[in-house]
Amino acid sequence: MKIAIYPGTFDPITNGHLDILERAVRLFDRVIITVAKNPSKKPLFDQEERYTLIRAAVKRYSNVEVDTFDGLLVEYAKKKHATALVRGLRAISDFEYELQMALMNRKLDSTLETVFLMPNEKYTYLNSSIVREIARLGGDVSGFVPDVALKALIRKLQKKK
Ligand code: COA
Repeated sequence: MKIAIYPGTFDPITNGHLDILERAVRLFDRVIITVAKNPSKKPLFDQEERYTLIRAAVKRYSNVEVDTFDGLLVEYAKKKHATALVRGLRAISDFEYELQMALMNRKLDSTLETVFLMPNEKYTYLNSSIVREIARLGGDVSGFVPDVALKALIRKLQKKK
């Protein structure tokens, strides 16, 4: 059984993340999409909210588990018996940081491979920070995030006003 971990902050999950997940489920028997706490980023949605949004957005997959983690990713992967980490690569600008993380994770655990997947070209410009900013400024992000995340963004930003 080939298990992969797809880790991230997912603040909130976007259609770009879902595109990567869709590709990963075709390659692995089981994919665990897991939400990092990342308090240093001061996320808009807390870890529990980000987890709940992903749960709702990935209901259709039978081989996807949604989880949360804190601490070292390699330790978490070991606990889950995963052999691979999945990361999305959108542009060259993602590459340097991703390469650094992949090599460091391999140094920490030589049995764990990082697999980079490229999303559909229409998502190459998309990231959660841009989505949050557009939504905060009243722009339409309905084409960028799943419905549950759109509703949650609207609710959250109304509360913040
Ligand atoms: N607040 C909230 N979100 C922010 C942000 C902020 N201030 N700044 C950037 N982001 C968002 C970006 O919009 C981007 O979203 P995207 O997923 O749509 O691209 C995302 O965060 C980019 O952050 P990045 O750090 O590149 O990746 P990530 O957050 O998806 O995942 C982890 C990084 C969780 C995989 C990595 O930090 C990790 O493994 N942490 C565990 C600790 C560990 O093992 N560290 C050693 C790694 S070698």
